[in-house]
Amino acid sequence: MQHLVAPSMLSADFLNLGEAIEMVNKSEADWFHLDVMDGMFVPNISYGLPIIKSMAQKAEKPLDAHLMIKYPERYFEDFHDLGVEYLTVHYEACTHLHRSIQKIHDLGMKAGVALNPHSHISLLEDVITNVDMVLIMSVNPGFGGQKFIERSYTKVTKLREMIKRNNANTLIQLDGGVTLDNASSLVAAGVDVLVAGSTVFKAENPQQVIKMLKDA
Ligand code: DX5
Ligand code: ZN
Repeated sequence: MQHLVAPSMLSADFLNLGEAIEMVNKSEADWFHLDVMDGMFVPNISYGLPIIKSMAQKAEKPLDAHLMIKYPERYFEDFHDLGVEYLTVHYEACTHLHRSIQKIHDLGMKAGVALNPHSHISLLEDVITNVDMVLIMSVNPGFGGQKFIERSYTKVTKLREMIKRNNANTLIQLDGGVTLDNASSLVAAGVDVLVAGSTVFKAENPQQVIKMLKDA
């Protein structure tokens, strides 16, 4: 399949969020990537439900929420009510991951699991056929604009092998440090969904950069 591009709204100009959403609507981007941080699981606090509610009113593409929060199951229904399509929780934040995935599915959303840079792909062996997407963090979660961790390529390859071995349909999403320089090699390595924050929103022409990421 042709890979997807999901701009991370974390790097958008929050004073002009409406314009940023319209830009993504008009662009070749596939999804809106929404980074939710609680100041506990990660050191930073980003934005939460009221802001996402406003964004959802204007967004004309699927919402892909990446929860970097402890006890994320407290909010599954809220995200569902806001129209989120892909809901991703962190492996490291869920004591009962299997149950969390089930709950996301019961609510009618697609379930994603994110892995921190230190977490080995093999941790997902027993849930791989249950999840719709695995998000490989290629920076430590919490901030945009960080340097890509090169080891992430090996993780993509290992995850691709695991998906194949299990006959699963899981999407591979990669998040953090994606640039115009590494996008095509990441796609070649097996990434299905490229998340890009600063590369898109710090560019002079974000719409054109999204197109370049799509063509990568
Ligand atoms: C980091 C977030 C990312 C972040 C990516 O914790 O999960 O989605 O916005 O930003 P860039 O693309 O600038 O690394
Ligand atoms: Zn993210």
